[in-house]
Amino acid sequence: MKQLVKIALIIALIFSAASIATPQAQAATTTTLNAIKQGQYTVPIQFLTDGTSKSSVMNTYVNPTAKLVVKNGKQYVQITLKNSDWITGLKVNTNGKLTKPKTISTNKKKKEKVVQFEAKDITTKLNAWVKVDAAKYNYHHKYNVQIKFDSKNVKNKSGKKVTIKKPKTTKR
Ligand code: HEM
Repeated sequence: MKQLVKIALIIALIFSAASIATPQAQAATTTTLNAIKQGQYTVPIQFLTDGTSKSSVMNTYVNPTAKLVVKNGKQYVQITLKNSDWITGLKVNTNGKLTKPKTISTNKKKKEKVVQFEAKDITTKLNAWVKVDAAKYNYHHKYNVQIKFDSKNVKNKSGKKVTIKKPKTTKR
């Protein structure tokens, strides 16, 4: 009997050592886009006060309709910022970290700027951060906000509604 216990212990030891020596392969997570065709669409957006479902003051300073661009298997959102010279910092959570969007165009006369960021999933809210410096009003603030997309009202160029599904997350 004692012998049996010994053997069992040795086997257990071998197995635990093996599992330490060969760590399990990390499961990589890839996200596949939903199958909307390459092209340009519109999507209504709303900025929310941090941690709430309330409309943020920031909506005064953005165009409520954003452009959704699907290109080379990627999905981008373009937002028009108004009074953009006051918006001295902006970061949006793309791919899990707050990232500065790319400036696509600037209209100095209108004080507008179009910025673009990648958004893999527009059926969910995205965290964002904004820095505002309106020297004229001695208004200097930094805020966290969330961006909510009205993904049920995405329209193509001819104004036809397009169905947006939550992208599938697959493990490989
Ligand atoms: C000089 C112009 C501005 C004035 C006078 C102003 C005024 C205010 C006031 C009074 C609040 C407090 C409101 C509340 O908590 O209910 C507030 C909050 C806020 N403001 Fe401004 N603001 C200005 C510019 C901007 C700009 C340009 C942005 C961003 C693009 C911005 C984004 C926010 C955000 C995110 C909050 C936090 C509360 C929320 O999300 O609604 N503000 N602002």
